[in-house]
Parts: sequence; C-alpha cells; structure tokens
Amino acid sequence: MSVFRTKTVEQSIEDSESGEHRLRRSLSALDLTVFGVGVIVGTGIFVLTGVAARNTAGPAVALSFVVAGIVCGLAALCYAEFAATVPVAGSAYTFAYATIGEFPAWIIGWDLMLELALGAAVVASGWSGYFASLLKNFGIYLPESIAGEHAVVNIPAAVIVLLLTGVLVLGIKMSARFNAVMVAIKIIVVLLVIVAGLFFIKSANYQPFIPPSHAMESEDGLKAPLIQVLFGVQPVAYGVFGIFTGAALVFFAYIGFDVVATAAEETRRPQRDLPIGIIASLVICTILYVAVSLVVVGMQHYSDLSVSAPLADAFRAVGESWIATLISVGAIAGLTTVVMILMLGQSRVLFAMCRDNLLPRGLAAVHPKFRTPYRITIIIGVATALLAALIPLSAIAELVNIGTLFAFVIVAIAVVVLRRTRPELPRSFRTPLVPLVPIVSVLASIYLMLNLPVETWLRFLIWMVVGSVLYFLYGYRRSRVGDGTTREPVLEA
Ligand code: ALA
Repeated sequence: MSVFRTKTVEQSIEDSESGEHRLRRSLSALDLTVFGVGVIVGTGIFVLTGVAARNTAGPAVALSFVVAGIVCGLAALCYAEFAATVPVAGSAYTFAYATIGEFPAWIIGWDLMLELALGAAVVASGWSGYFASLLKNFGIYLPESIAGEHAVVNIPAAVIVLLLTGVLVLGIKMSARFNAVMVAIKIIVVLLVIVAGLFFIKSANYQPFIPPSHAMESEDGLKAPLIQVLFGVQPVAYGVFGIFTGAALVFFAYIGFDVVATAAEETRRPQRDLPIGIIASLVICTILYVAVSLVVVGMQHYSDLSVSAPLADAFRAVGESWIATLISVGAIAGLTTVVMILMLGQSRVLFAMCRDNLLPRGLAAVHPKFRTPYRITIIIGVATALLAALIPLSAIAELVNIGTLFAFVIVAIAVVVLRRTRPELPRSFRTPLVPLVPIVSVLASIYLMLNLPVETWLRFLIWMVVGSVLYFLYGYRRSRVGDGTTREPVLEA
C-alpha cells in the first residue's frame, strides 16, 4: 500500500453525491462572492494597515496591498481551476488527494487547520477586544481578565464562537443570510471610511510616497525571518523592499478567498459559480484595501498611525469620533463573519477527511433536517472556543499565514500535475499560462513564507510531525482508498 495512492476525481465527485453524506446545494455565485468578502475583510484591513504603513512601507502600504493581492490572485487562478474541475468539499485536501496522493493530502488537510480553526480562534480574540472597547462607549467595563488581548479566560471570544457554531449547524442557507447582513454592515463602514476620509486627506502626508529605505535592527535568533537566517538578507524598512516586507505582513488580510472552494458541494452550479466566487471576492477586496489604505495614509502621517485601530484612530485624530464608533461596529460585524466562515471551511475540510476514513467516519454524518455536517461542526466549535478562550494567540498568529501559504503551494503544483495526469477532464475554468502562472504562484508563496520568523517555521514543522504520526497510526490503515471500499454504498454513521 503506497502512501501516495490517489483518489480519482470521479470517486471524489461520486462520494459528494451519495447518500447520507450529501450536503444541500443551495448557493449561487452571488452567495459565494458574499461568503468570500465575508471571510476576507477583517483583522487585516481594520488592524494591520497601521502596522505595515508605520513600520515597513510608509504611504506605499497601498502598493503592499497590491503586491499581496497579486500573489493571492495567482493562487486564486489555480484554486478556480481545481474547484471547477473537482467541486468537492475538501478544497486543497481533495485536490491533493486526486493528484499527489493520500499522505500529502492528509498533510494538507492537517495543515489547513492552521488556516481555518486557528485562524478563527485568532480572529475571535481580536473580536473580543473590539467588543470590549465598544461596550466602553456605553459605560460598560469588562474586566481585563475576561476580555481582550490580555485575558486569562477570554469569555466573549468563546461565546461568539459557540453562537456562530449554532448558526452553522442550522443550515448553509441560514448561515448565508446571516453572513449577508453582516457583510453589508462591514462594507458600508469600509465605504464610509473611503468617502468620509477623502475630505480629510492632506497631500503632504503622501510625501514621500515611498520613504527612503534604511536598515532595520535585525531581529535575533528565533524571531528573525527565515530568509535572513538562510541568506543573510538584511531587513530594511521603507523603500522598495519595505513594500515587499509590508506585503508579507498584510497577506493576512487576503486569507479566506480559498475558503470559498470548501463550499463546493453546497453550490448549485459549481463549475460556473466557484471560479466567479473565488475571483470576484478577491478582486472586490483588493480594490477596497487599496482605496482604504490610500485614504488612511492621506489622513494621518504614516508615522502617527495607530497600530491597534488605525482606521478608527485616524478619524479620532481629525475630531470625528462618531465615525470612529461606527468603524468599531463595522469591525465587530466584519470579524464575526470571518470567524464564522473560517469555521465553516474547517468543518467542510474535516468532513471530507472523515468521509474518506482518514478520521473517524461517524463524524461525517449529515443532520437529517439541516443537511449540515453537525457533529464535526460542533466538535470544531467547542475546540475553537477553548483555543480562543485559553491560549494567548497573538504569539502564534503567524502560523495562520504559513499554513495558508503552504496550501497555496500544493494547489499550484497540483494544477500542473492534474493537467498531465488527466488532460482529458472537462475543465470549465482553466488557469491561464500553465505552467507559468502556477510556477510563479509557488515562488511568490514561498517568498512570503521565507519572510516569516524562524520560530513560526519550527512550530509549523512540529505541527506537521504530529500530523504525520497521526496518519500512520490511524488513517493509513483505515483509508477507504487504501482498502478499496470507495465504491461501496455509503453507510449512515
Ligand atoms: N482575511 C481575514 C482577516 O483579515 C482572515 O481577518
């Protein structure tokens, strides 16, 4: 039995259409685009813009957003081809299973927990900080031990995760409606920032647009980016290199467009709608990000921007604190959908892994009435709530980036592999310029990964070793592909 055994595209599609493991197909291209925007716009734009402008890119932070948007655009073109060809819930996990083999697929599924469940927990603790600060406006003060970044037990973060778990169990259409309302609120707030901000722009703040570069104090040891340790690259702030360093930082703001692919089995016309959902949500967010960052660095000199709430504080600085309050409301709505859809993506990936017996198959049972994978959703909800409540997450937030980028690399490689192994498959969307676009996508993702600190790489490797051990202890022996039962009728758990 080889650990590189593959599951054919036909088997994956057949599984998604059979029996008790079938989800409800109700989403349209518009629903998917709104899902995409719902999961993309969050902490990144509401928080990271300030840090990136102030410390690394200056007013050219807008160009950092363009660069990160291009890196994600290349990956999105690869995801779009795969999602249209293999419209099955597991996203990168399923794509890898169809091409590179079972062990790499398992590793990707395991890796995606960093993007999805850990990402949801990280954003939920950010949510709790915004929530506590909004309550302060109404004279309600939550003790620091139970809310915000320094909480011992982060109660609001756990509560919001559990509430959203309930919404997810109740059905995909219900989740889509709730999401649509929240996304509308956050987009209105983002547009408000852009339009209202225009009145406070001072052209002097754009001078110089790309501040002259200077060497930064290099971080030592485990905190240093891997690229610095491997190649002796000296970190610089500002200048052209600063734009690229900023791009590695604001990459987090784009995480999520790939989650659209995990809703493949709930999409009415996946071949047409998944590529639209993935690419449209990314394009919309890139435009919003570039506009917001241009406005914010025009309102305040980049060296004065706040690092925790740059959008709200830029309006406070010009005396418009009511807009600052509205921005907090938008951020809360915004982060709510990010948490929800990351958990949605996580449940669909684990669902696919359980259905293949790489994890206990009983967990993939679908609720008879709501048609959602309720068991796995509840398990993820409780685990994410505990993580968000008990672990100080800011220190490990970069694991989310490395986990996502690693999946981008594998998906780009898988596109090229599938073109060779199954050239005849109908592809309703084709990545342009294969293999050039996938190769550039791999190189760009690896470049951003190299910009992450050594300690993030070490944690990532440890996580992968744990995953590998688990595979050989469990999935390797039980796999349905391994024991040849992929074509048997699917049993209820
Ligand atoms: N892109 C998401 C955010 O910025 C993860 O919060």
